[in-house]
Amino acid sequence: MSQITITTPDDWHLHFRDGELLNETVPATARCFRRAIVMPNLAPPVRNRTEAMAYKERIVAATPTGSPFEPLMVLYLTNQTTAEDIIEACGKDIPAAKLYPAGATTNSDAAVSAIESLYPIFEAMSEAGMLLLIHGEVTDPETDIFDREKLFIDQHLAPIHARFPKLKIVFEHITTADAADFVLDANDMLAATITPQHLLLNRNDLLVGGIRPHNYCLPVLKRNTHQQRLREVVASGSSKFFLGTDSAPHAKHTKETACGCAGCYSAWGALELYAQVFDDLDALDKFEGFASFNGPDFYGLARNTGHVTLKRESWTMPEEIALPNGDSIVPFFAGQTLNWQIT
Ligand code: NCD
Ligand code: ZN
Repeated sequence: MSQITITTPDDWHLHFRDGELLNETVPATARCFRRAIVMPNLAPPVRNRTEAMAYKERIVAATPTGSPFEPLMVLYLTNQTTAEDIIEACGKDIPAAKLYPAGATTNSDAAVSAIESLYPIFEAMSEAGMLLLIHGEVTDPETDIFDREKLFIDQHLAPIHARFPKLKIVFEHITTADAADFVLDANDMLAATITPQHLLLNRNDLLVGGIRPHNYCLPVLKRNTHQQRLREVVASGSSKFFLGTDSAPHAKHTKETACGCAGCYSAWGALELYAQVFDDLDALDKFEGFASFNGPDFYGLARNTGHVTLKRESWTMPEEIALPNGDSIVPFFAGQTLNWQIT
């Protein structure tokens, strides 16, 4: 196959940041995605409808003229979140709220320290029909970083899912066979997003031959058996898995340093990288479901009506993206060849 046309896809998990950076991140995503679930981990985070709508306006202002792109906003759950916050916010423009365990990742200091204390909020979300998006890692310092996702399933996700069987949950950016199998075995109210880096790479790509800070993200890359299981489940065409890039820009100097930030900025090649994965797996017939159908179907939103065509033609990801403030970002896959191109 030298060309493939799919229904316009959406990105069900990414980070746009704020301020001037929106002029870089929003057009990069709007070039191929019709909608995106925008993560609320700003500092301070997006906590209620007022803050979400103000952030949405800043994103819309950075959207290229004429683009149909639509940001879907998300509330950040904190120990102060109330059921009223949920009821007031919930709607087609704010379809979800996000659970970060405190200290799990970038700007998660405001997050909840005792997840059980949020059960009344989960109840309100379940009744209102708001989705719960979860960064699923335990954060106690004794737990090995490679075991954090599996332990989160046992200690938190399984109990939440059992207690709130009607609450729609997205287990975000899953990285392990344990997570993939838990989602497959659960009822239809649980689904998961998978990033391009977790399909393309494993922890050798982070650590062998020298440490590679631009492949460092959270949850951290796992061993290759986990990568293989993620590839298997997307190739199977299961409707429980869908596209969420977790594209997360950090300035080059904050990643290439003694204590580097977590996040891969994949927006410049997101759809093309996923196409590469499905092509490698000889599963291009499953690409459209993953990229364009499973996400809106799970969210209860309409599928897009437009189309995107990719052709098999190689190109090279730039080494760096210059920002107006003099900083630069090293994009995910910098300097490497991609086999698919959007026409
Ligand atoms: C994200 C970021 O930079 O905001 N980083 C990452 O490694 N994925 C936060 C997150 O989703 O973990
Ligand atoms: Zn993220």
